[in-house]
Formats: sequence, C-alpha cells, structure tokens
Amino acid sequence: MTLRLGDTAPDFTQDSTEGPISFHEWAGDSWVVLFSHPKDFTPVCTTELGYTAKLVPEFAKRNVKVIGLSVDPLDDHKSWVGDIQETQGQALNFPLLADPDRKVSDLYDMIHPNANDTLTVRSVFIIDPNKKIRLMLTYPASTGRNFDEILRTIDSLQLTDGYKVATPVNWKQGEDVIIVPSLSNEDAKKLFPQGWDEQKPYLRVTKQPNV
Ligand code: BEZ
Repeated sequence: MTLRLGDTAPDFTQDSTEGPISFHEWAGDSWVVLFSHPKDFTPVCTTELGYTAKLVPEFAKRNVKVIGLSVDPLDDHKSWVGDIQETQGQALNFPLLADPDRKVSDLYDMIHPNANDTLTVRSVFIIDPNKKIRLMLTYPASTGRNFDEILRTIDSLQLTDGYKVATPVNWKQGEDVIIVPSLSNEDAKKLFPQGWDEQKPYLRVTKQPNV
C-alpha cells in the first residue's frame, strides 16, 4: 500500500530497545517522528541517532515523541547503543524498533529494492496526534538527515494547525509567516488584528502569531 500525506499511519506491534511497542497506544496524544536507518553499526546512522537523542528535549517541548527503526535484531541494537553513547557523547533516550521480519518496514514502504533490497532507506514520517501522516522524507543511505530541519517542519505544521498560517521559503522560528490563502480577509481581520502586508491578494505576510 502506498502511504500518502493525510493517510492514517499504520498501527503495529513490534519489539524495541524499550520493550514491545504497540504504536498507536505508545503515541498517545503526541506527535511522532518515526524514522528508519539502514543498518546498525554504521557511521552515518551512529551520528544521526546521537544527534537526535540530544534534540529529545526540543521534541518534547513540541509534544513530539521520537522512534527509530532498522531491520537489525534487538540484540544488535542493544550492543550498538553503547557505541552511540561512547562516540556521540549522548545516551539513546528514545526507542529503536527492531524489525528483522520487516513488519514495520513493509507497512511504511521503507525498503526500496532498487536502492537496496534488504536495508531500509532513511525514511522520516511525521505523524500528528490524530495519527495522520503529515510529512514524509526519503533520503539515501549515504546522506545523513538534518534533524534541525525536522524540528523546523514540526514548528511549521503546528503553526498551521494552531494559527492558520503557512511558512515561506527557508522560514525559521520568529520570522514572518503567510496567512493561508483559504482564509478570507474578513476572517483574517479577526485572527490577525495587527494586520498584514498584502503583497498580492494571495500573498499576505504577517508576524508569527505565537512569539
Ligand atoms: C551509514 O549509516 O553510515 C551507512 C549505512 C548504509 C550505507 C552507507 C552508509
């Protein structure tokens, strides 16, 4: 099954470094970042997991839980965790799913056979508290992802949900945002009493509401 934005994130039960996880129950009312990495004991993955673990407080501030996955078995995950702490200076503080039967990888289409027929690519799914998939990224094995960018996309998604604004190119926290085109000027006046800069009828720039 092809997953698309807006689809319900498939539920599953799978083993992890923090014990068996029933995904929807584990997610609860949080947002979730579910991401796959190709293999344990590999250099790029080691750096990604260490850095993501350092960002866990930032994810928590945004009500986001993080969960990783590879097709390697749980015993491998458990012995690799020590290497992550030793080399990245940070203990793993979120669960890593062990998916040797590819249950989750297949559900989320994380194995791309023309890239590699056994290893997962670097997929990222951002899932909202209603269990809807809100963002998907796919990177090749050799390119480490930018997890600051993943935090930035969560900020953008949460702003859109909370304030009916979209974020322009290269937007960062605190910068101006765009009133969503679906909102009439009449309704916009109620939500944005400070006004906006109407560069075109469809391009209405305003201050970020929640700063
Ligand atoms: C890595 O994580 O370093 C890696 C994994 C698979 C292929 C290439 C690099």
